[in-house]
Amino acid sequence: MTTAETLAGALTRARDRTLALVDFDDAELHRQYDPLMSPLVWDLAHIGQQEELWLLRAGDPARPGMLPADVEGLYDAFTHPRASRVDLPLLAPDQARKYCATVRSKVLDELDALPDDSGDLRDGFAFGLVLSHEHQHDETMLQALGLRTGTPLLGRGASLPTVRPGLAGTSVLVPAGEFVLGVDAADEPFALDNERPAHRVEVAEFRIGRVPVTNREWRAFIDDGGYRDARWWTQRGWGHRIGAGLSAPLFWSPDHTSRTRFGRGEDLPDDEPVQHVSYFEAQAYANWAGARLPTEIEWEKACAWDPDTGARRRYPWGSAEPSPELANLGGDALRPAPVGAYPGGASAYGAEQMLGDVWEWTSSSLKPWPGFTPMIYQRYSQPFFGGDYRVLRGGSWAVAPEILRPSFRNWDHPYRRQIFAGVRLAWDA
Ligand SMILES: [Fe+2]
Repeated sequence: MTTAETLAGALTRARDRTLALVDFDDAELHRQYDPLMSPLVWDLAHIGQQEELWLLRAGDPARPGMLPADVEGLYDAFTHPRASRVDLPLLAPDQARKYCATVRSKVLDELDALPDDSGDLRDGFAFGLVLSHEHQHDETMLQALGLRTGTPLLGRGASLPTVRPGLAGTSVLVPAGEFVLGVDAADEPFALDNERPAHRVEVAEFRIGRVPVTNREWRAFIDDGGYRDARWWTQRGWGHRIGAGLSAPLFWSPDHTSRTRFGRGEDLPDDEPVQHVSYFEAQAYANWAGARLPTEIEWEKACAWDPDTGARRRYPWGSAEPSPELANLGGDALRPAPVGAYPGGASAYGAEQMLGDVWEWTSSSLKPWPGFTPMIYQRYSQPFFGGDYRVLRGGSWAVAPEILRPSFRNWDHPYRRQIFAGVRLAWDA
């Protein structure tokens, strides 16, 4: 049940996380680590601007806001591509922090003013949207920090459970049959527009990796000449591989034994899911391994369907809220957990680590489910349908548990590598 109180708590936790990711000096916050990413101070003020728009101005940009219109315009993601944001006359970090704090205190007053008997806060969708938006930008800021060079700003991350050997390369069977794809607002009030509505689909029998592909497995692909053999790649993927000069996942050392993580060098952990690979690389790996990538529909069935009850589970493991014993989420680890770390988090079919650790590339392009209706933030999903994107599922270690569901759909260009993306294989049964 979501109440005004739980929502206020969740918003406060998101803000604590955001502020920790911008707890650096002004010069640092204005730096552009990579043309792919915004300076952190842009994300900060943009978080406040979107919160003000959706919660204090009912999503109507014509309603006067706290920022002058020309300043507010700097934070429109559609007008200003990431590469150019560093050159904009952005709010200074102190101004941005103050603006965000002012917006937030008004938002918390609004939440406070909701009637006590509102109970289950089904009409609080805009609050859920803003919560999701802030956490999604926190993950984006972590991607930026991953590309940063110089003396490391972040630590090594929180400790994680250890590997359970013998699982890499194994698969589970998902028998043929119908399941319910997507969710309705009645069950998941904060589900975003592209996750809705729930509808039944038939899925042929398939196998899916019990766990994601590991660094050790990926190294075998490299050692077998996988990056030099056009046979495993699609024509477009091969063209990209050549053009971008790819020979290993992003951040790997040339000898494939170590990596850089948030600016720190370390041995490559063999049993950790591989991350920072593009869709093109994921596809090539799958071909080499005699497998394929799952469709997003297969992925969701393997994650959420319970064939014994003929119903969806809220999470792969059941209805319990995510916890550090069930999944690696929330961002504190700064890395994926080794495969097999969460036996209690297995889905009904036995697939593990479906939520958290690494986003998993699927073979699907982004399309609306039948009956799609845009939400108040109409430009969240709709402009991207049919574009050059592939869907990613399951969230990464950097995703907050409050905003993740088995139905959550992410998407990106097939060449992207700075995202926390990895691979889970599938096979026709
Ligand atoms: Fe945004």
